Amino acid sequence: MPELSFAQETPTEVAADVLAVFATGEEGSAKPGRDAAAVGAALQIDLAGELSGIGYEGGLGKVARIPTRGTATAPLLLVVGLGKAEDVTCETLRRAAGAAARNATKDATLAIVVPGDLPAQCDGDARAEAVAEGAGLGSYAYTTYRSKATDVPSLRELKLLAGEGLSADDVTAGIQRGEILVRATCLARDLVNTPPLDKRPPALADRVATLAGEVGLSVKIHDDAALLEGGFGGILGVGQGSSEPPRLVELTYEPSEAAGSPNGHVVLVGKGITFDSGGLSLKPSTSMNTMKSDMSGAAAVIGAMSALGELGITVKVTGLLALAENMPSGEAIRVSDVLTHRGGKTVEVMNTDAEGRLVLADALAYGAESTPDAMIDIATLTGAQIVSLGYKIAGLMGNDEALIDQVRAAAEAAGEQVWHLPLPEEYADHLRSEVADYKNIGKPMQAGTLIGGLYLRNFVGDTPWAHLDIAGPAFSEEGDGWYTAKGATGMGVRTLVRLLQARSS
Ligand code: BES
Ligand code: MN
Ligand code: ZN
Repeated sequence: MPELSFAQETPTEVAADVLAVFATGEEGSAKPGRDAAAVGAALQIDLAGELSGIGYEGGLGKVARIPTRGTATAPLLLVVGLGKAEDVTCETLRRAAGAAARNATKDATLAIVVPGDLPAQCDGDARAEAVAEGAGLGSYAYTTYRSKATDVPSLRELKLLAGEGLSADDVTAGIQRGEILVRATCLARDLVNTPPLDKRPPALADRVATLAGEVGLSVKIHDDAALLEGGFGGILGVGQGSSEPPRLVELTYEPSEAAGSPNGHVVLVGKGITFDSGGLSLKPSTSMNTMKSDMSGAAAVIGAMSALGELGITVKVTGLLALAENMPSGEAIRVSDVLTHRGGKTVEVMNTDAEGRLVLADALAYGAESTPDAMIDIATLTGAQIVSLGYKIAGLMGNDEALIDQVRAAAEAAGEQVWHLPLPEEYADHLRSEVADYKNIGKPMQAGTLIGGLYLRNFVGDTPWAHLDIAGPAFSEEGDGWYTAKGATGMGVRTLVRLLQARSS
């Protein structure tokens, strides 16, 4: 990720390769904002005239490239559309800043003037944070496995300048928080983008333990022997077809300020299937193309937890990452095998590809044993989530309206979209088995996402609980042209962080 800083120089003097300013107004009638016009004046160009001369129409994220011809240190000026000024929110700013980053030359230093003249929907430090977040995330590229890093929009440095009326303190504070969120999100993206051979459960557990140690989290790895001892039959069953055993990683964040943690205890549970082949209920080959992303929930939990110390969160947080590789083999669970979950409930596995709920049920049951104030799980759980809500909107379910509202508000603040779906009692009997307490699938083509949620609900007891199904939003095969590149999105990291921030104050 680029290095972020607050620049006190003037826009014409700031040491950068590219300077970016914003234009507001509907497509067709976009005008340079006040700060952009001031930059134009300093560059001795009539920016409005220049833009109309090249036929620039504006609109959110639309970029005009104007050479500065020696009038500024930066040889290139980008004018980035924000859309109508009245409609600008933190999310539109993130998107426009992402577009700026993706339009800067590779390995460049980009300086962005945080606009001073916008309505109050996104003001002060939140405005600087949004610009830092959008540009930082927009410059992400996964290059670990390239022999030559070519053609990737990756900034070396990002400098923010304060537009007219913004204080240096606001911009500095915004940069600091934005940088933390970018780093946390890109950590999750890197883990999800990692090829599945290089993140098999024991290796991923070790990598997470190292990362956790670096940010002051304590770590306990429950290995296969401990899982057997503890009765985690779901995690073990899903993992038994693989030549690498499963793991349950338990991360703990204990806020230093608050002995006795006055703001309570939250458990985060992440689905961590490092590759989902389907098992003996094997997926068709092309359906496996993105299944290295089936540990995106676990990645979101470690990403979010990596930021808690730096943000001074005062809530105690436990993270449970249920890691297993779902593979077919002579040792794999068979269709109609019965597994016993943590806590004793039994399940008849009628489809080995409905494995996420099997590993999560164990982790949720274990999490509930500590009677936390809230428990949130995040999982690439059902293909049906993509059918109902598509690739941009996650499904949100749960047993507690207040917690659901909190998650919804946190997602809104983060610019991550979620939609509340029901957990209808009427469908609970779809999971009834003739042999065991439950089976792990419902009826064909019927409410698959809700059935997944209903299955999980059986394991949380009375704990206030919310469930995020991110099957679609976790991975983007196209990228969105704003601040999300192709591949892992880091979905959920920023929602979880904002939720914990809200519960922390
Ligand atoms: N990991 C998949 C869900 C998924 C599908 C995530 C597509 C991302 C993109 C999950 O384990 C799965 O296979 N679910 C099955 C459940 C079914 C067998 C009840 C599904 O959705 O088909
Ligand atoms: Mn599956
Ligand atoms: Zn899966």
